[in-house]
Amino acid sequence: MSKVLIVYGSSTGNTQSIAEKIGELIRTAGHEADVKDAANVSPENLMEGYDAALLGCSAWGEDELEMQDDFLPLYESFDRIGLSGRKIAAFASGDQSYPHFCGAVDAIESRAKDLGAVVIADGLKIEGDATAAPDAVESFARAVIENL
Ligand SMILES: Cc1cc2nc3c(=O)[nH]c(=O)nc-3n(C[C@H](O)[C@H](O)[C@H](O)COP(=O)(O)O)c2cc1C
Repeated sequence: MSKVLIVYGSSTGNTQSIAEKIGELIRTAGHEADVKDAANVSPENLMEGYDAALLGCSAWGEDELEMQDDFLPLYESFDRIGLSGRKIAAFASGDQSYPHFCGAVDAIESRAKDLGAVVIADGLKIEGDATAAPDAVESFARAVIENL
């Protein structure tokens, strides 16, 4: 059994709903999953005790990418959360009418890789909440589970 940390930053609940659904799917597969709001976590050794982290964050910029408010401080402290050698994957809800659709997914993957993390599933990008694309959420969770 593996232990997975899921941290999300979500302003209107869409990314939160994806985080909760992924958590459910991971638990159903027999693993442990802790789902946490980025507003309530502190970066110091956040990954300790976990085999993998799934990081979710919506985007709020117009022309430039802006990370969701609660997730931004965590993103800026990625070097302190203990990512080196750890398994991660990223997810987000977004809106295709913006130039950087779910742009936080790419930013998280890139920064985490730079810090030595291993990306274990292709980033999940969804328009709307978890119910808008149940198949995509399930295949993301399956990819994560297969690589734990
Ligand atoms: C001012 C503004 C800027 C936005 N910028 C982006 C963006 O850059 N990329 C994107 O995919 N969605 C963007 N969105 C859409 C939100 O990210 C989207 O509604 C998302 O589902 C919100 O997720 P959350 O409820 O988890 O915060 C923007 C929305 C607003 C109002």
